[in-house]
Amino acid sequence: MDEKEGEGGGGMNKTYKIAVIPGDGTGPEVVAEGIKVLHAASKRFGFALGLNHFDFGGERFLKTGETLPEGSTDELKTYDAMYLGAIGHPDVKSGILEKGILLRLRFDLDQYINLRPVKLYPGVDCPLKDKVPSDIDFVVVRENTEGLYAGAGGVLKRGTADEVAVQESINTRKGVERCIRYAFDYCRKRNKVKKLTLCGKTNVLTFAFDLWERTFYEVAKEYPDIKADYAHVDAITMWFVKNPEWFDVIVTDNMFGDIITDLGAMIQGGMGIAAGGNINPKGVSMFEPIGGSAPKYKGQNIINPLAAICAGGMMLEHLGEDEAAGAIEKAVMTVTGTKLKSLAAGNMGYSTTEVGDMVADYVTKG
Ligand code: IPM
Ligand code: MN
Repeated sequence: MDEKEGEGGGGMNKTYKIAVIPGDGTGPEVVAEGIKVLHAASKRFGFALGLNHFDFGGERFLKTGETLPEGSTDELKTYDAMYLGAIGHPDVKSGILEKGILLRLRFDLDQYINLRPVKLYPGVDCPLKDKVPSDIDFVVVRENTEGLYAGAGGVLKRGTADEVAVQESINTRKGVERCIRYAFDYCRKRNKVKKLTLCGKTNVLTFAFDLWERTFYEVAKEYPDIKADYAHVDAITMWFVKNPEWFDVIVTDNMFGDIITDLGAMIQGGMGIAAGGNINPKGVSMFEPIGGSAPKYKGQNIINPLAAICAGGMMLEHLGEDEAAGAIEKAVMTVTGTKLKSLAAGNMGYSTTEVGDMVADYVTKG
């Protein structure tokens, strides 16, 4: 399905070509609200959006047996950015869509950074006692193309008593170094307290995290303005709960990053608000709410669209529209701080579309 919207109007400075993949479950509902807000931002800040929709996801797979059609990654490379809802369908065996669509896009487009901000917004219920927004404001830089996700390994004698399953973590010097460099640069640009924490497991994973640790401290020499810090992943999960204010930017491998960012999402108020970017600094990047397709809430207009809206804001920041991104974040903070009862689906006090309308309205009014 091809659909063009808001193609470069007169007097506009710039048109961004965006590939929209609404996906499965509540993905299409939250993406629709995100687009509403992106349009409000484009009108106010003087840029245009050329949106093209792609129907990748569970429904298409059930109809055609295809996950990503031939040539799609080449086509996607011609876009300025990608905006994804969610991938995951209850009628499709776990792993097929995740590996066939989401992970394949990340890998084939070499989106080697998964950037996940963890920020507690005003008015949001935090499950941690006595923590306030100034305590929870850090960013996780997750390596996004290697580690345990690389698919290395295999199985022997499957289904027998002698079955052997091996799943190896692949860590390349190049892959580790580019991720660590991105994290140092990001930490410098973020300019908060300029502390970068490597999250690893050097006491047990003495091959993989030896490489990470050596690379980290070598690269750190080029960033004397940034404090290079280290913590084991198990300890990190304790500090996220007890002392989240200790963190500024964290860099870690794919698997640890996956796990700690779900914990991060919970301490910032839940999946309803957690957004992320799959970034290829020299190619096309993809922005998504990280909460998944939530099929049980599909079609009820009760899912929280703020994570998708925040992902749209991250996309604009990535495209260089910093002012528009800032306006979206400010509007989201106004809505969490003064409107919503809760971030949980069905308990917001407003419907999905009403939340999108409110944010778009605040973006328009400034
Ligand atoms: C995420 C998700 C994915 C991952 C799944 C759906 C493959 O959990 O984006 O964190 O493990 O990376
Ligand atoms: Mn995950």
